[in-house]
Amino acid sequence: MAGSITLTIIKPDAFGAGKAGKIIAHLEEGGFKLVAARVMRLTLAQAGEFYAVHKGRPFYTELVEFMTSGECMPMILEKAAAVSALREAIGATDPAEAAAGTVRKLFAESKGRNAIHASDSDENAARESRFFFSETETIRS
Ligand code: RTP
Ligand code: MG
Repeated sequence: MAGSITLTIIKPDAFGAGKAGKIIAHLEEGGFKLVAARVMRLTLAQAGEFYAVHKGRPFYTELVEFMTSGECMPMILEKAAAVSALREAIGATDPAEAAAGTVRKLFAESKGRNAIHASDSDENAARESRFFFSETETIRS
């Protein structure tokens, strides 16, 4: 039976450092299945819209600039209880506080440049998936 889906982004720090393959392998070993993927460079408008929930926060401008600083890799992942499973797999926002074996502990540099995004609810997973992918670009078994 197919699991639920979540949306992840390998952020410009990790993608630019050539860590995408290792991060994808780590996620696949954790039981996540890739159902859509692309490589792109976000525009300021796209990054601003994607993180609109954080508008007004002190780190918003820095976050939008960082997310547009290079290529990134949005992906839809499938697993049972995918949203909570991926949040657990990526670890705390600040890699210094992330648990051992999490993506951020293994691959991130700092709280701002933290390698990976993950949706925080089923509703946002659906919204963020539509933000990056059309129906025909996703493969669900
Ligand atoms: P994300 O949305 O990227 O998966 O990260 P998250 O849920 O763990 O963290 P969130 O609170 O949603 O913050 C979004 C992103 O903003 C940057 N940030 N920087 N310097 C700071 O204090 C700070 N706080 C947040 C991070 O890139 C974080 O992932
Ligand atoms: Mg978040």
